[in-house]
Amino acid sequence: MTDQKSTNVVWQIGRVERQTRQKIFNQQGATLWFTGLSGAGKSTLAFLLEHLLVEQGFKAYVLDGDNIRHGLNANLGFSPADREENIRRVGEVSKLFADAGMIVLSSFISPYRKDRELVRKLHEQAALPFLEIFIDTPLAVCEDRDPKQLYAKARRGEIKDFTGISSPYESPEAPEIHIEHGLTPMQHAEQVLDYLHQHHILQR
Ligand code: ADX
Repeated sequence: MTDQKSTNVVWQIGRVERQTRQKIFNQQGATLWFTGLSGAGKSTLAFLLEHLLVEQGFKAYVLDGDNIRHGLNANLGFSPADREENIRRVGEVSKLFADAGMIVLSSFISPYRKDRELVRKLHEQAALPFLEIFIDTPLAVCEDRDPKQLYAKARRGEIKDFTGISSPYESPEAPEIHIEHGLTPMQHAEQVLDYLHQHHILQR
């Protein structure tokens, strides 16, 4: 946990209750955390779900690793310490979105178990649902797809600390949803939507 540097700050409480937002939005604010290797299909699934949810009138928004690294986290690289800070910040942002009543689809490699656990704890402490979704696509398949040609670069030694090649990926041990390689993105999206209905995150 990051130490708080600021002193003399006092928590302010708003007037809108969580239940009020839920009732109006017909959904529970929640974080869906997509983790897996680069090229596994995290963003494809997250953006497909965002589209399907918004089309059905739900409030959903994707936070995507590549995109966030253009702005909020533009000052971070890929060392273990920078990845930890990346995940800490986007974990906090996800929590804020979920608290605001949104379904936030957070798509980050997030290779370290302890960093993902920290985000889970943040949500638990705030009594907000956190669903870890493991996009379990084997490295060989990701490398074969290589949509951004980054694996090829990493193999040539042109990218250091590349996840799966020269930097580790620690698989989730007990993800809420396990997305196995082999089905279509739409089938995977249906698997997630079923879960959201069954667990009353989507309430109509
Ligand atoms: S994380 O490890 O800190 O969670 P994040 O999801 O934000 O990573 O960003 C990953 C994206 O950055 C990848 O999809 C890829 O396009 C790009 N990238 C650039 N360098 C690396 C690297 N060394 N390791 C992994 N991904 C990288």
